[in-house]
Amino acid sequence: MSASTAVADLEDLQARAVAAIDGATTLDELDEVRVAFTGRKSELADVQKTMGSIAPEDRKVLGKALNAFKTEVEGALDQRRAVLEAAALEARLVDERIDLTVPPAAVPPGRPHLITQTEQAMVDTFVALGWRVADGPEVESAAYCFDAMNIPPDHPARQDMDTIYLQDGRTDEFGLPEVVLRPHTSPVQARVMRTQEPPIAIVIPGRTYRNDTVDATHSPVFTQVEGLVVGEGITMAHLHGSLLAFARAMFGEDREIRLRPSKFEFTEPSAEVDVSWGTNPDGTTRWLEILGSGMVDPVVLSWCGVDPDRFTGFAFGIGVERVAMLRHDLHDIRDLYEGDARFSAVF
Ligand code: DAH
Repeated sequence: MSASTAVADLEDLQARAVAAIDGATTLDELDEVRVAFTGRKSELADVQKTMGSIAPEDRKVLGKALNAFKTEVEGALDQRRAVLEAAALEARLVDERIDLTVPPAAVPPGRPHLITQTEQAMVDTFVALGWRVADGPEVESAAYCFDAMNIPPDHPARQDMDTIYLQDGRTDEFGLPEVVLRPHTSPVQARVMRTQEPPIAIVIPGRTYRNDTVDATHSPVFTQVEGLVVGEGITMAHLHGSLLAFARAMFGEDREIRLRPSKFEFTEPSAEVDVSWGTNPDGTTRWLEILGSGMVDPVVLSWCGVDPDRFTGFAFGIGVERVAMLRHDLHDIRDLYEGDARFSAVF
C-alpha cells in the first residue's frame, strides 16, 4: 500500500471518528466509540498494520499522519468526555435533589412502656417520702435470695418460688455454686443492709424471674418494687402510713388499706395489704390484695450485720404488673409483654 492511500484512509477515518465522538450522548457510548476507532481491532489498528508494507522513506509521512490522527481524536474524546461528565453530574444533582420544604412523614413519638411508667410512678411515691432508690443484680446468689432472707436450704419456700438455677459452673461471691435468676427483689435488702448503716429507707425496683408457665396472670419475667426501712424505733405504724400514702398516690385519694396477717420467712409479723376498691353488691367495702409486707425478721437483720437489739425495720414487695393491671383495668398480663404497638399506644 502507498503512503498517500494510507494517509487518505486515515483522514477519512478521522472525520468519521470525530463525527461519532460528537454524536455520542452518554459516557458509555463515548467509550464504545473510542474502542471502535482506536482499539486493538479498530480501523486505526488496520492502518497501523500497513506500516510494514510501506516503503521506508514514506513511513515518516504516515507516522506523522498517525500522530496527527491521535492528537485530533484524543482531543475530541477529551472534549466530549468533559461535556458528558458535566451533563451526568447535572442530571445526578437534579435527580438526587432533596426538597427541604416537603413536610416529613409523621413518626409517632416514643415513650416508656406501661411497665416502666408504672414502676417509675411507684418509685416516685416513695422518693416523695424521702427514700432513696437502690438496685442489685438479676443474676443473684441463692445465699442472698434465700439464706439472707431466712429461708434455709431445706425450706419449702425455696421450691415455692420456682427459682431458675443457672447451672453453668459459676459461683457467687462466697464461692458457692448456687447462682440463680433472682425470684424476688428481696435479696437487694440484704445487699444494702450489709453495706450501709441505718437509718435506711430505700425503694428497689427491678426485674425478677420464676420458672412459671405463661398464662393470663403469670409471666416468667416480671417486675417488683421492694421497700425497706430500718432504724431505731421503726414500727408497724410506719409501715401502715407509708403504704397508705403509696395506695392513695397510685389508686386515688379516697383509698383505704387494710393489713391481713400473713406469713413470710423474712418478716415477723407479716401482713398482706389490701386496698379498698369500691363496694360489693351487699354494700360492704371491696378489697383487693396489692402486696406482701412485714417487720424485718431479727434473723435477717443479724445475717446482714444489723444489730436487732437496737434497730427494727419494715419491708414490702409489690408486683408492678399487678399494679398496672389494676390501675388500667387490664385482664391479661401477656398484653404487657407481647410488644404490640397498638397496645402501647393507648398509654
Ligand atoms: N419477696 C416476696 C415475694 O416475692 C414479696 C415480699 C413480701 C417482699 C414481704 C417483702 C416482704 O419485702 O416484707 O413473694
